[in-house]
Amino acid sequence: MTTFENKSELKGKRALVTGGSRGIGAAVVRGLLDAGAEVLTTARSTTTAAPEGAAFVTADVRTPAGVEALASAAREVLGEVDILVHNVGGAEPYKDALAIPDEGWRDALDLNYLASVRLDSLLAPGMRERRSGAIVHVSSAAVLTPIGPFLHYVAAKAALEYYSRGLALELAPHGVRVNAVSPGRTATPGGEATRELWARLDAAPGHGDVTAPPLGREGRPEDIAEAVLFLVSERASWLTGRNLIVDGGEYPMG
Ligand SMILES: NC(=O)c1ccc[n+]([C@@H]2O[C@H](COP(=O)([O-])OP(=O)(O)OC[C@H]3O[C@@H](n4cnc5c(N)ncnc54)[C@H](OP(=O)(O)O)[C@@H]3O)[C@@H](O)[C@H]2O)c1
Repeated sequence: MTTFENKSELKGKRALVTGGSRGIGAAVVRGLLDAGAEVLTTARSTTTAAPEGAAFVTADVRTPAGVEALASAAREVLGEVDILVHNVGGAEPYKDALAIPDEGWRDALDLNYLASVRLDSLLAPGMRERRSGAIVHVSSAAVLTPIGPFLHYVAAKAALEYYSRGLALELAPHGVRVNAVSPGRTATPGGEATRELWARLDAAPGHGDVTAPPLGREGRPEDIAEAVLFLVSERASWLTGRNLIVDGGEYPMG
């Protein structure tokens, strides 16, 4: 489904994608494979298979130990990592911001922010030494509307975006690029499940209702993957510290 013209554009590149067993992560994995990269991906369970052709390890990136195990597996399977795509993320909505318990805030930070920080701290030094590498952090266009039920998630993603820009500045002189991609509403198992939960919350009428973005449809995982694939390719060699919002026109001021 991805539209790479040059099938060997990423030949010789070794890529790690977190959360590649379904949804956006799986589309990124397929796109990287199509472009000739060697790919390792990860998820907590093995019930949904990773795309054919990718290596797979189970890992839970919510804890420092889980991230360390993943970095070790990456070194074992890939040797070095040239492309790192932090795709894992998500959160269950609460009734409103004040209903979010301490645990909800901490879980959201671990999954949507600290997992990336921790994995970067283990794998980006190798990129810096080799003076080559591309990192993409998957955030969310929801950062542009910080609504209460998702404030834990949105605040964690906002931290991720800010961190991503700072890391980009630090690594730019060393030949490593760091960017973010912020999807709008995208048709994935995780996205659908979250929106169903939101619609069922006991809140004001209309709460959780969604209209189609200006381009008339929800995003497909491949729409988001295209942006990630562009950012990790040489075509984006003069792009770093940016956040590409891919939302069908939903947030024109983003
Ligand atoms: N879909 C949307 O509408 C939308 C909108 C804005 C932003 N995003 C962002 O886009 C990214 C991907 O979203 P998606 O909708 O494609 O998600 P998804 O359908 O829920 O898929 C998530 C992937 O991550 C894995 N995963 C989840 N928790 C994990 C953990 N703790 N450790 C390791 N792997 C884990 C899942 O497998 P297991 O469950 O087996 O672990 C699965 O492979 C997320 O960062 C999300 O916040 C999505």
